[in-house]
Amino acid sequence: MPVTQDSLVNVLSGVSAPVEQARGLPGWMFGDPDVYALEQERIFAGSWVCVGAEDDLPRVGDVMPVEVAGRPLFVVRDQTGYLRCFHNICSHRGALLVTDPGRRKIIACPYHAWTYELDGTLKKTPHICGQGVHDSPTLDKSLHGLKPVRCATWARLVFVNLDPLAPSLDEELAPLAERWAAYDFSLLRFSSAEDFLLPANWKLAIENFVERYHLPWVHPSLNGFSGIDHSFELFGDLFVGVGSRKVTPPRPHGPLPTFPGLPAELAERGEYPALFPNVLLGLHCDSLFAYVMTPQGPNETKERLYFFSVGEESLEPRYAEAKAALHKVFADINREDMDIVSRLHRGCASPAMMGAVFSPVFEKTSQAFQRMVAERLAEPREPQTVSVEAGG
Ligand code: FES
Ligand SMILES: [Fe+2]
Repeated sequence: MPVTQDSLVNVLSGVSAPVEQARGLPGWMFGDPDVYALEQERIFAGSWVCVGAEDDLPRVGDVMPVEVAGRPLFVVRDQTGYLRCFHNICSHRGALLVTDPGRRKIIACPYHAWTYELDGTLKKTPHICGQGVHDSPTLDKSLHGLKPVRCATWARLVFVNLDPLAPSLDEELAPLAERWAAYDFSLLRFSSAEDFLLPANWKLAIENFVERYHLPWVHPSLNGFSGIDHSFELFGDLFVGVGSRKVTPPRPHGPLPTFPGLPAELAERGEYPALFPNVLLGLHCDSLFAYVMTPQGPNETKERLYFFSVGEESLEPRYAEAKAALHKVFADINREDMDIVSRLHRGCASPAMMGAVFSPVFEKTSQAFQRMVAERLAEPREPQTVSVEAGG
């Protein structure tokens, strides 16, 4: 099925109908390379895309190459401890600068040895005007630093946005941040991370995460400590998901420190929104987990789970087992999901898959996520991916 504007408008109209009549995204939207390319431009190139956690770059000089919408970028912690993101290309002839995570004093290009400060300033252009002549009268170094990309953090997660005109991350996140105002995220401490490779389209992983209909069959153990009778739905412009008023995962190694001052009704609450486009969050009184989803093409998605505990005290060795056990609870749930989502992906590859019908009770959330995707594909904003110059 070729992607055309008409076909996208039809998909949007189907998915936007009242839930009882709606049709979800048809199967071809999950495996088609043209759809994938369009998503990269119309969704990922203009959104605050999560690329990892602050804890991936804890020290001054730490660098991490990332890719967003096919653009090679890197994140670096500069001399002042501030995280910055740049296009990962040398201002000289465009060589890739950073190919592996690591720690640098400067960013040096391996091709002709131009070097950049950690803040992106072009520092040296060795022998540019002949042996021993390191400066050029016609090259103003201040105009040829690395090209910056907007970078911001929230809840220890690092987000970048290729669109210089998009609203700030704080603005975009305000509704969710306000909802979670009782939780002091400055107390989050990195506990553990785990990588997964999902043989399925990124959208399927998200639409699965945001519905609770599958809990009794796919997650019998989760269903035991978080029954759907206590659940509710979360809807925002940029997030959608589910929550439960009563989540009591097994804690065989005892309790973990909790966010201070939480009202009683939040003590057993769990909330699980997907933040558009690529983060799945899980908030509890004693932890936050985040799955950062990085599509590798239409048929494969990298997932990195970050698990954060609460407060300095939670870093003490006596909590290690309890943290590891809780991490495992949520990682095991993901393994159960990966199995069913890869099955979903294989089914959606069939041309007979004309689009989901939704449970009017449990799947308004999956419908809402699919609608976010369809809206951005069918009604794109003007592309705004021009970068501002260094220092601008
Ligand atoms: S391409 Fe980087 S120094 Fe020449
Ligand atoms: Fe699930």
